[in-house]
Amino acid sequence: MQRNFKQISFIIFLILFTTVLAFAASPSASSVFQVDRDLFKLYPSLMVYEKTKAGFTEPETCAGCHQDKYDEWHGSLHSLALVDPVYQGEFNKAVKAVGSEIGRHCASCHTPAGVVTGEVSEPGLAGRSAVAKAGVSCDVCHSVSNLNHCKTPSKEPENGSFVLRPGEDGKDGKDGPVLVKRGPLKPEEGCGGGFHDCKQTDFHDKGDLCASCHQVYHYDKHYPLEATYLEWKHSSYAQKDIHCQDCHMVDHDTFVRSADTMTKPQRKEYRHYFNGANYLVYYLASQAAQKNGDKDQAKRLMNQYAMAVKRLQKAAELEIAPIYRGEVLAEVKVRVKNIRAGHNLPTSLTNVRQMWLEIIAKDENGNVVLSSGAIGADGSLPTDVRKFSSDGMGSDMHFAIDPWVVTAFSSHETIPPKGYKDAYYGIAVPKGSKQVTVEVKLRYRQADQHVAEKLLKAVPKDIDLARDYGVIKIPTLPIVDMVSMKSVFAVKK
Ligand code: HEC
Ligand code: HEC
Ligand code: HEC
Ligand code: HEC
Ligand code: HEC
Repeated sequence: MQRNFKQISFIIFLILFTTVLAFAASPSASSVFQVDRDLFKLYPSLMVYEKTKAGFTEPETCAGCHQDKYDEWHGSLHSLALVDPVYQGEFNKAVKAVGSEIGRHCASCHTPAGVVTGEVSEPGLAGRSAVAKAGVSCDVCHSVSNLNHCKTPSKEPENGSFVLRPGEDGKDGKDGPVLVKRGPLKPEEGCGGGFHDCKQTDFHDKGDLCASCHQVYHYDKHYPLEATYLEWKHSSYAQKDIHCQDCHMVDHDTFVRSADTMTKPQRKEYRHYFNGANYLVYYLASQAAQKNGDKDQAKRLMNQYAMAVKRLQKAAELEIAPIYRGEVLAEVKVRVKNIRAGHNLPTSLTNVRQMWLEIIAKDENGNVVLSSGAIGADGSLPTDVRKFSSDGMGSDMHFAIDPWVVTAFSSHETIPPKGYKDAYYGIAVPKGSKQVTVEVKLRYRQADQHVAEKLLKAVPKDIDLARDYGVIKIPTLPIVDMVSMKSVFAVKK
């Protein structure tokens, strides 16, 4: 009896032990997202580096023959992708929370060449090489030789799923390595001016090139935190052959034309601005350039700032309509239309960016009959605001904001391309009022005031906001009014 009991308890122990082991051995227990470790050697980065003797080249060298492209790129967020203080703050937090492994993940999009040189597992800028500091540089995009979009754990483009091959070994080891730059054009005689060879690809003029970086997935759970490319791919723009380049690699007026008429720009109209919505970072970087005495660069960045604000102001349209019940004005309906963003509005960091409606309605005597969406004294949005962004949640199903914690969205209110969302507001009009004036604004800012302050305070030690940017106290984040509209409605139908 005694022996039997011992045997049974031993068997139970064994069963329990193996169950515990089985769980412990597979942190991401899902069989859905399998990783091909032979292909993705830099995992959690999905970048593949095909190493040859040809190294990476600084943008300043490319500028020697492509000055126009350099001047345009130099003021872009791509050129700031590593040095961006907001990025450095979040990167610092990520490495502290998860460990240096996650560094390769973040860096495969913010400085791919820095991953290859093995420099960026730690935050900060001190001692970084010029090619690493150049972020998403000329030689990153023009050394992309192939794409692994269908081989990733999600079977979609994600987390830097491109192949980098800056060149080839020389023949028979006699000549030096040969740089090969890839682009959209069929190479003509003398392409590369003796400095590089040229190769045409079938993806440099398509959204596929941008896809690997503009699909940001959770580093382990492969949840789409940013899905700009797929939003675009599932839109009428993709169906009409209007790609990212046709809106982001052209000047302002050409972008408006691409969006409105769905016609492709001409070859000579392409530019390397990569202008988006992030006016805040252009502003900070311009302050830094000013402090450094680089007036040209400060001007270039402020030009990008103005372009970003103008782009935001062309993205949406508003419609206001009265709703009567029993012949009396009871509600107003506000329709927000995404008319010119080739993806959802807003896109990418939808759980950080804020786009919301502010509305105020008054009767002819100045009585406020409706008010919603006004910023509080501490810079925060009211809880009942109608906003068009997303809320992230972690594996515990609770609200979360950091990209290593967020594994799903609990709400996603962004507006699809050429689509719309409606907001309804109840109105209680005092007796005797005859008409109501409704004023609506669609407003945008990069982040909540507190979130921005936290990130900027988390920058690594070698970045000094006061010294480098002239930022002593973090100012109130600027808000852009994307559209404003005013309508007058009779109280009785
Ligand atoms: C984010 C990726 C990216 C970066 C960074 C980038 N390019 Fe390009 N480049 C492109 C794409 C996409 C095209 C094709 C657009 C088009 O159709 O002209 C292109 C086109 C070109 C072309 C050929 C088109 C022409 O009109 O001659 C040259 C040359 C070029 N880039 C040079 C550069 C240089 C120099 C830099 C850095 C100063 C740079 N690129 C940075 C993506 C990039
Ligand atoms: C798959 C590519 C990719 C990966 C991986 C990635 N990012 Fe990004 N990141 C982007 C892109 C693209 C943007 C620009 C989105 C925008 O501005 O709308 C961005 C923007 C940001 C911003 C906002 C910058 C600003 O000025 O507002 C922060 C902060 C940031 N990333 C931090 C991180 C951190 C930390 C990690 C790693 C945990 C990471 N990123 C991993 C591509 C990536
Ligand atoms: C010695 C001059 C010289 C330098 C330096 C140089 N290029 Fe070029 N490159 C040329 C010439 C000439 C062409 C062909 C005409 C054109 O497109 O401008 C060319 C063409 C290109 C193209 C078009 C290829 C295609 O098929 O679409 C790309 C992309 C490119 N260069 C990228 C770069 C990058 C990136 C660098 C820096 C790493 C660089 N170039 C440095 C001279 C140069
Ligand atoms: C190697 C990765 C990579 C590739 C390839 C890439 N991007 Fe980006 N892109 C980034 C990162 C990272 C940022 C954000 C940098 C930051 O905010 O610190 C960014 C920012 C941008 C922005 C500015 C966003 C804003 O908030 O204003 C635009 C627009 C953009 N990219 C367009 C493109 C287009 C178009 C292509 C393809 C032709 C492309 N990108 C290819 C990594 C990449
Ligand atoms: C029809 C024109 C159009 C096309 C096509 C387009 N965009 Fe945009 N994009 C816009 C406009 C307008 C904005 C500003 C409004 C916004 O933030 O969504 C924008 C903003 C952005 C931003 C900044 C988002 C933010 O709020 O920080 C990024 C990043 C971006 N686009 C990347 C891309 C990429 C990558 C593609 C292709 C997969 C693409 N865009 C295709 C028009 C376009």
